[in-house]
Amino acid sequence: MAEFKAFLSAHLPSSPSFHPCFDEALSYTLKSGGKHFRAMLVAGVVAAVRPERKEAAFHVALAFETMHSYSLIHDDLPAMDDSDLRRGQPSLHVKFDEVTAILAGDALNTHAFYQIARAPLDADARIKCVEILSCNAGIYGMALGQAVDCYFENQKLGLEELKFLHIHKTARLIAASLQAGCVVAGLDEAEAARIYDIGLDLGLAFQIADDIIDATQSAETAGKPTHNDGAKNSFTNLLGVDGAVQAKNELIAKIERELGSVHAGIRAIVTGLIDKHLR
Ligand code: IPE
Ligand code: IPE
Ligand code: MG
Ligand code: MG
Ligand code: MG
Repeated sequence: MAEFKAFLSAHLPSSPSFHPCFDEALSYTLKSGGKHFRAMLVAGVVAAVRPERKEAAFHVALAFETMHSYSLIHDDLPAMDDSDLRRGQPSLHVKFDEVTAILAGDALNTHAFYQIARAPLDADARIKCVEILSCNAGIYGMALGQAVDCYFENQKLGLEELKFLHIHKTARLIAASLQAGCVVAGLDEAEAARIYDIGLDLGLAFQIADDIIDATQSAETAGKPTHNDGAKNSFTNLLGVDGAVQAKNELIAKIERELGSVHAGIRAIVTGLIDKHLR
């Protein structure tokens, strides 16, 4: 983690110009911390299987963090969740302005692919990582999930629809992080696909945990506004806090069973991240 943070600090996107704040806005969210959950999945798989490819892994991990940062910047906009606090700091549109937040988000989305394209990896692996990230962040993943999330505010969805929402807005990018780690590590496609499927359960548990944070924590602890999901379709709104905790714990038990048959090093990094962030 410390090594990845140093890598991130050394590779922040920068676009200096006579614009008074665009350059600062580009790196503002990346510099503000966070759990680096997705980056740790990419880098953790590679560290477990092919540690000599750490440098390449960090480039791909940073691309996932960059994509994630864009999603948070846009998620906080007034037109979406209208959140003024992120990681204990003013959200980007509050610190700068809305136009800057929209454009910094757009730029980071695109820049994630630039980072992968320039990673020190063979061309096949870079193309595969581009495919994985674009598939899971875009129209087959996060963008679709965010569209469903926002469109159906104030309209109660059923459990299967809510799972669809959470799997798309959050789980696919998390599963994709594991899958990209598998590509960088040179694991075969069948193994990567199996680990991706475990990642979908992991990502769903992650978003349920996030719903629980909204319902149970203070803004100070969470670093973002809480009790903010009242109009949202969330696991806590549908099942109550206890029901959401139970659903999350059942998913964790399922993930632990599924991990029984994967590479021991990958199992260790995933269980370590579950213990740290999802208990
Ligand atoms: C928040 O993501 C948005 C969700 C998809 C739940 P994280 O919980 O990973 O946020 P940071 O990066 O740790 O701040
Ligand atoms: C956001 O979900 C998912 C994204 C793709 C960014 P939330 O809206 O629940 O995330 P937070 O709670 O604002 O971090
Ligand atoms: Mg949201
Ligand atoms: Mg939000
Ligand atoms: Mg949330």
